[in-house]
Amino acid sequence: MDIQILQYIKSIIYIIASVTFVVGLKMMSNPKSARKGNLYAAGGMTLAILATIFCHEGAVSPVIYVLIVAAIAIGTIIGWLTAKRVQMTKMPELVSMFNGMGGACAALIGLMEFHHNIGDAAKVSTIIAGMIIGSVSFSGSIVAYLKLNGSMKKPLRLPNYNVINTIMLIAVVVFGAWMVMSGTDSSVMLYALFAVALLYGIMFVVPIGGADMPVVISLLNSFTGLAAAFGGFLYDNKVMLTGGILVGSAGTLLTIVMCKAMNRSLFNVIFGAFGESAASGSADDVHGSIKDISTTDVAVLMNYSKKVVIVPGYGLAVAQAQHVIHELEMLLEERGVEVKYAIHPVAGRMPGHMNVLLAESNVDYGKLIEMEEINPEFEQTDVVLVVGANDVVNPAAKSDPSSPIYGMPILEVDRAKHIIVNKRSMNAGYAGIENLLFYNDKTNMFFGDAKKALTDLVAELKTM
Ligand code: TAP
Repeated sequence: MDIQILQYIKSIIYIIASVTFVVGLKMMSNPKSARKGNLYAAGGMTLAILATIFCHEGAVSPVIYVLIVAAIAIGTIIGWLTAKRVQMTKMPELVSMFNGMGGACAALIGLMEFHHNIGDAAKVSTIIAGMIIGSVSFSGSIVAYLKLNGSMKKPLRLPNYNVINTIMLIAVVVFGAWMVMSGTDSSVMLYALFAVALLYGIMFVVPIGGADMPVVISLLNSFTGLAAAFGGFLYDNKVMLTGGILVGSAGTLLTIVMCKAMNRSLFNVIFGAFGESAASGSADDVHGSIKDISTTDVAVLMNYSKKVVIVPGYGLAVAQAQHVIHELEMLLEERGVEVKYAIHPVAGRMPGHMNVLLAESNVDYGKLIEMEEINPEFEQTDVVLVVGANDVVNPAAKSDPSSPIYGMPILEVDRAKHIIVNKRSMNAGYAGIENLLFYNDKTNMFFGDAKKALTDLVAELKTM
């Protein structure tokens, strides 16, 4: 076919693909349309890949086609199986690993294309920038993955690690600038820069504490998007550019939203060493006592309530109790009790964790109420049932300036008439701190694994 026509077809397909990315991303902002949005964007990406392969100008050896198809097949199978099997609580690890792969691709593009573009300073600077950012994103994501899956339990902090990291960052940038300005074609220097950038990615993520990891993953995600956008510039490939920019900006926005929801600045996340001060807690301030409650008493209390608010947290996800909580909600509603869910923006381990989890068990989206909206309603609530949530209902965030979560907006459940907290023990949540809510006069602890406790509760309610 005529080269010009091929180019037109490719451009049109790229525009269609770019539109599907934007529309898909927009649809992902609502649980109702998220699944469809994901399929639209994936469909657009498939079209873009096919156009890139089959509308390529110039002869391509059949061996190359075989290699491309084999690589796509292997990647698709691995990606599909991993995504199918992953548990909801392990999602941040998966995101981190996939993100790392994106970073690695961007870095490899840099390594491959450097020598072909010597003498063209604009292209070399694009290549070097993409390679540095991609490498940092790759090694940083792998460290994040290892931290999240428990292989690297403690944040490793060298003395003056902030100073060391800042010097390393400056060194990487200066080295990269030298590579562009000197016009060197040295492979040794290229690989040395690649190695230093990889090392910086490791050093950047290693000191960051567990609870801040989802923020860092989101930040690394935006790095990968940026690195891919540099690839788009390099190849003058509009769809790669659009995709990269969308990932980069979405990652940046998500990072900002998460920081806001935890009342932490990005600077504080990167340099603040969360976890050091958090480990101690404030056990000395504990007044009052723990009062546990039986399944029957919880059932009676709820059965005779007018309004119940359920607060889902990380423990609900771990226990996979989303279906039984929905059953409880329906049972109570049948008996004329008004039931709502209070959703904290960082409940669980990733943004939207609770929404996705509850959507899985067909909870009506209208019942998921955001923090700002539900907080004023707690005063008229007869019973708040906190299931596997801890930090997001910790009053220390409002009352204790020495607390590591001080300033984080919380669900103000202590304003309700009764508070029932379901968890397995008195263990702390992610921030590793004591929660005085459990000692509140209005609080009763309903101990046990969330799925088991709620199943017993549903059974008890059915007898009433
Ligand atoms: P957490 O504070 O982590 O508390 C979860 C509680 O669930 C624990 O205290 C645990 O107590 C309980 N639990 C664990 N397994 C359970 C089971 N099978 N049945 C019943 N309870 C169980 O959770 P949260 O309140 O949802 O807060 C989220 C935390 O993650 C916050 O610190 C937040 O800043 C952080 N974080 C979240 C995000 C996003 S975007 N979601 C991002 C960054 C950081 P027991 O061990 O006693 O059962």
